Amino acid sequence: MSINRLNRNAKISGVAGWLPDYVLTNEELSRMVETSDDWITTRTGIKERRILKDPSKATSDMGANALNKLLNKCNVGADEIDLIICATVTPDMLFPSTACLIADKVGAKNAFGFDLSAACSAFIFALDCASKYISSGQYNKVVVIGADKMSSIVDYNDRQTCVIFGDGAAAVLLEPDDECATGVIDSILKIDGAGGDYLKMIAGGSLNPASLDSVKMGHHFIYQDGKTVFKFAVTKMADVAEQIMKKNNLSGEDVDWLVPHQANLRIIDATANRMNIDSEKVMVNIHKYGNTTAATIPLCLADWEDKLNKGDNLILAAFGGGFTWGAVYLKWSY
Ligand code: COA
Repeated sequence: MSINRLNRNAKISGVAGWLPDYVLTNEELSRMVETSDDWITTRTGIKERRILKDPSKATSDMGANALNKLLNKCNVGADEIDLIICATVTPDMLFPSTACLIADKVGAKNAFGFDLSAACSAFIFALDCASKYISSGQYNKVVVIGADKMSSIVDYNDRQTCVIFGDGAAAVLLEPDDECATGVIDSILKIDGAGGDYLKMIAGGSLNPASLDSVKMGHHFIYQDGKTVFKFAVTKMADVAEQIMKKNNLSGEDVDWLVPHQANLRIIDATANRMNIDSEKVMVNIHKYGNTTAATIPLCLADWEDKLNKGDNLILAAFGGGFTWGAVYLKWSY
């Protein structure tokens, strides 16, 4: 195989999602913290989220389940996979990487792989990265998995965060499109580390290793300044979606689908408004799953797969902790 053949796109040739069975409703949360179905629905658009209850299962199990489903669907053997990129902020452990654990669980004996950390933007960062490996000519079958067991880092006494997050995983298979007719066309990806203080997990890393104090102080849970995150997310996600449309001469009418990260329905609506696209063209499943972090965008693709047509113009847009944000312009391939 020749390396650095820069004349091919990376197309998505399959997608599959996997969600835990347990449904945590707004009503149940209202019995756990001082909140209400009305507050959560009005402020976020979320009605329920899925939770992985089995304490012996983790992010890699959800990722492996999604990947096995994908491989069956696409009739591809695990040993044919060249590369696995796992987008996650809730790895099973600091090392080995979740990609290694998933490769072992599905029997991907010939794969290279790594985790990509960019919180809620991780899936689009990983998709862009995967597409580069394909268009360089280095690999032919690349899997991108977005998987997060958010319930493992959510404090169910903190009403500001526990209402938002859920667990889930989804995987896409990328292969070359030698005609460059479909697939990943363009991306604009950004980080701004000055935003790090507003959304983070304080302990468990090399700065604040786990200690009795860190546990006592709840520093292994998500810390979020929701108002500040909201303010940035609502402008940055819309900015970047608008920029990628402009860069590719796309009007609101040219865009067939907006695939937004599912953090808050108000952020999604603001992005769609700025892009000047109708609400019927916006993928929204936040009411069913909440914010599954790296899994939201591929879970949308899985839910909408039957409605997509070859050549459809999709804009994927995300915002997350870091801060990280970005947009990908993708032409659907099947
Ligand atoms: N139920 C009831 N009341 C709640 C509540 C809940 N679950 N969470 C917060 N409140 C209260 C607050 O205590 C506050 O009360 P006060 O006015 O008496 O102080 C009031 O509701 C308003 O809080 P505020 O933080 O201003 O609400 P908000 O409209 O900003 O909504 C978020 C809170 C978290 C839903 C919103 O800020 C948000 O979505 N932020 C972005 C989060 C995000 O996208 N994170 C993932 C990164 S991609």
